[in-house]
Amino acid sequence: MRKYLLAIISTLLLAAPSFAKDKKVTVSLFTDYNIGDTLKVFGSTGMELKSAYAVIDTMPGNKYNKMLHVFTTTTGCYVEVPLPEGMTGTTASANYDRVSAIINVPQGQKNCLGKKLVIYYGSKKASETAVTLTEGKGTTVTVSQTKVSAPYDKAIRIGLASATNSNYYIDNIYLVTKDYGYDYTVKEETARYWADMIGKSIGVCVNPDQLNDARVGQTIYRNFNLVVGENAMKFDATEGSRNNFNFNQGDQIVNWALKHNMAVRGHTLAWHSQTSQWVHNTEYSKEEMFAILKNHIFKVVGHWKGKIREWDVVNECLAENVGRGVGQGYQLRSADESVWYRRCGEAFIDSAFVWAHQADPDAILYLNDYNIGHWGNGHYENGKTHAIYNLAKRLKDSGIPIHGVGMQMHTSISGLQVDQIEETVKQFAAIGLKCIITELDMPGSKPSSDAEQKTQATKYAGLASIICRYDNAPSMVVWGIADNRSWLDDSEKSKPLLFTGEFEAKPSYISTRDMFRTQAERITGIEDIEDDGTFIEEPEFVDVYSLAGVKIYSNISRNEVESLPAGLYIVGGKKVLVK
Ligand code: G3I
Repeated sequence: MRKYLLAIISTLLLAAPSFAKDKKVTVSLFTDYNIGDTLKVFGSTGMELKSAYAVIDTMPGNKYNKMLHVFTTTTGCYVEVPLPEGMTGTTASANYDRVSAIINVPQGQKNCLGKKLVIYYGSKKASETAVTLTEGKGTTVTVSQTKVSAPYDKAIRIGLASATNSNYYIDNIYLVTKDYGYDYTVKEETARYWADMIGKSIGVCVNPDQLNDARVGQTIYRNFNLVVGENAMKFDATEGSRNNFNFNQGDQIVNWALKHNMAVRGHTLAWHSQTSQWVHNTEYSKEEMFAILKNHIFKVVGHWKGKIREWDVVNECLAENVGRGVGQGYQLRSADESVWYRRCGEAFIDSAFVWAHQADPDAILYLNDYNIGHWGNGHYENGKTHAIYNLAKRLKDSGIPIHGVGMQMHTSISGLQVDQIEETVKQFAAIGLKCIITELDMPGSKPSSDAEQKTQATKYAGLASIICRYDNAPSMVVWGIADNRSWLDDSEKSKPLLFTGEFEAKPSYISTRDMFRTQAERITGIEDIEDDGTFIEEPEFVDVYSLAGVKIYSNISRNEVESLPAGLYIVGGKKVLVK
């Protein structure tokens, strides 16, 4: 009998639902409140404070992001926010070691700076931790909390100690366990969410086989909003034999990307490498070579017209190690190396841009190259950077439809000087050209030390800061989704990218994400439809587009927009965030 009983108990135990608690639980993003709703405020003694005030509000210029606006008095004010259903102060403080929140300090509220964040459950204090805040921006703060006995309290009380006679905002309150790392299913944890918010792109090169692998695919579309085929759209992949086109590889990437509301880069149309062997095998005349290139460009760009946002029209056309001063011209890659230059002369560059523009007038067209980016300071790239500047300027000044330059940036942790990249972006801005990062990888030593990886994180964030701050620098793309999926030899040792081989976010990803977030909060995210002060007679019915410009909803009434599924849309030419 006893054996039988044991069998039943063990079965029950096995069948018992796992109570593995979530590592991160949302207390409130304030999305389910209405503007004007008020919450109770308590002092450190647990008495409700009638003079202090907490109201659901939005920040100037960011009308879609509801948050808690706290107005304090002459004492510590702690706002009472309900805990998730079924949770008490006891279980919240026992199961979650930390509390995370965004504290946004408006300009002028200096009394909020240098204070401690305090957490109560009922009258029991669970945390009082110094936090570093910055005037005029939102800061994510995460503080440890101790276990308290508060079995009957179903709310958390949160606020800044002695931030007297001030006002500040609280948003995105979470309970977090100590071992919580990074969860890309929480959109605010991803670089994509914040890049989307300010209309910037963070991209990655992909191959079709990666897209249908759940873990890889999810890591790509949740964290990035731009993809480029590592090889799928090159000459040899699309026109394996003359005038026989195969777009299958590229179609897989484009269709997948558009399904995930991602933009797509096309790479690349005219390049000395990976041009199909049939082009080399026959000594075509100059006229025929131009005809071959024109046909290739019209067929490839035309196939993805309206789906591919931008193209690397010409890739690596400059001589590798020949520098020039600004205004001192450029030297092209030799005729021995480049079949296009050999048979067409320099005009293949100009023609390629003209044909790409004719094939898709809306596509943004780039001249792409490596070992460029550092403007001065004696860096070995200086001369080639100036050379591509001279070539791009010559094309633009002669009316060729070039929109910008792509810096591949196959750099290194030790070699990259972020300030030099910023100078180059400025120089191109001054001549009306975009300047983007198209193939970034930043290897360290083999193996790359933790200290190196910390430096890498700082430099990735520095590049993200440039992308966020310069209108002519709309995107940065990394050349591989994980350290073990790079074209570089021994990349598992040199660790050049943003994710580990297990698709765990590295410090470089977190620092890049945080930079996009910081800049998005600085730029206050979403444009306010009436932010220019004039009342816009808004159309009763609108079309709703994805960020990639694909129409998702037609002719819906404007007041339905806010009830769409959470996400970012373009409505009436403006970005709209639905939380
Ligand atoms: O598709 C064939 C496959 O059928 C064959 O079995 C296999 C073994 O030979 O080769 C496969 O082709 C390889 C191709 O990648 C697709 O995987 C080529 O050998 C290989 O040389 C090619 O390497 C690519 C390289 O460009 C070619 O120059 C890398 O993946 C790609 O990351 C790299 O990317 C370039 C950019 O396009 C331009 N900027 C520099 C960057 C790094 O070189």
